[in-house]
Amino acid sequence: MKVLFLNGPNLNLLGQREPEIYGSMTLSDIEDMVCQHAEKHKVEVVFYQSNHEGELVTQIHQAIGNYDYIILNAAAYTHTSIAIKDAITGVGINAIEIHLTNVHARESYRRKSIIGQACVGNISGFGASSYILGLEAAILHDKANS
Ligand code: DQA
Repeated sequence: MKVLFLNGPNLNLLGQREPEIYGSMTLSDIEDMVCQHAEKHKVEVVFYQSNHEGELVTQIHQAIGNYDYIILNAAAYTHTSIAIKDAITGVGINAIEIHLTNVHARESYRRKSIIGQACVGNISGFGASSYILGLEAAILHDKANS
């Protein structure tokens, strides 16, 4: 199984960005943690981060035929991007929405997810562990549907 982890705007700043909210791990720390977990499950994972909506859309398009699942922390684009939602629907790859923070317990504008409509499900609020839980969700969903 091959999984693409997509990360949206400002997640390159993890570790220094509002650590009281987003924690002290960098994106590269999270990537290392996910890779170790993925190895145990014999899952191949690739990480990509961009601050640009169009680049995320292009990455989703290029996932066709290359990945079984997309696990996506679209960051602020979660709440605004019809383009990313349409890209996920368009490629027909199972996607899982993840967030470090519990978006439902924060500002009202974070409670709405546009991309969630195109995803199998979502995980929110477990810090860096949301990435591991996203991977577990993909593995279990794949088992249940193959
Ligand atoms: C986030 C939540 C978003 O609302 C926010 O814009 C982010 C990070 C999270 O992982 O908790 O940048 O996606």
